Amino acid sequence: MKFFLDTADLDEIREAVSWGVIAGVTTNQTLFAKTGGKLADFEGHIGKICELCPGLPVSAESCAETAEGMIEDARRLAAIADNVVIKLPVSPEGLAATHALAQEGIAVNMTLVFTVPQALLAARAGARYVSPFVGRFDDIAEDGVAQLAQVCDAIHGYDFGHEVEIIGASIRTAHHVAEAALAGCDIATVPFNTLKKAVQHPLTERGLALFMEDWKKVEQA
Ligand code: E4P
Repeated sequence: MKFFLDTADLDEIREAVSWGVIAGVTTNQTLFAKTGGKLADFEGHIGKICELCPGLPVSAESCAETAEGMIEDARRLAAIADNVVIKLPVSPEGLAATHALAQEGIAVNMTLVFTVPQALLAARAGARYVSPFVGRFDDIAEDGVAQLAQVCDAIHGYDFGHEVEIIGASIRTAHHVAEAALAGCDIATVPFNTLKKAVQHPLTERGLALFMEDWKKVEQA
């Protein structure tokens, strides 16, 4: 399973890229708003993210309400850099836009996917990436991991005539990361805090402390 970073924060991207584990970045309106950026800065900000991870897919979301609006946004965003992927919601308008953009060779990440039918429709319309959400199911006391596993099973059983990768999204915990991999997700898009937690384990910390302590004994001997 590959890791994408789920953030619009340039410092977080810079650091995670330096770890050598990041294969792409996903953003959304909420994540961009958290940076304090204004609408006028949006496209420039996407350009900066693309520069930080050249050649790696960077998802930039359209907020348009019509298929025509989404296509217009997508063409403008795709012109920012070769590695821009257009993020569109799964909806009749989103599917129509995805279909048109796939024919133009513009890659789409279809987002806000919660069910197997939505995932199948997204892939069938031409989406390059399909993003089923985990954490938002947990938020309403449903089993997000089980839903994700169902989407992985369904998508991996079909040939859509083009490459489709599943991005486990709305990943909030290291447990979600593990379950996404076990479910067969191609990619998990992970917030930086969750990525940092995924590196940690109390036994790693305890083991390291013991090694340091014993090394001091060797140095003092
Ligand atoms: C990424 O593609 C999604 O927009 C993101 O993972 C949603 O995460 P959230 O449910 O924690 O907001």
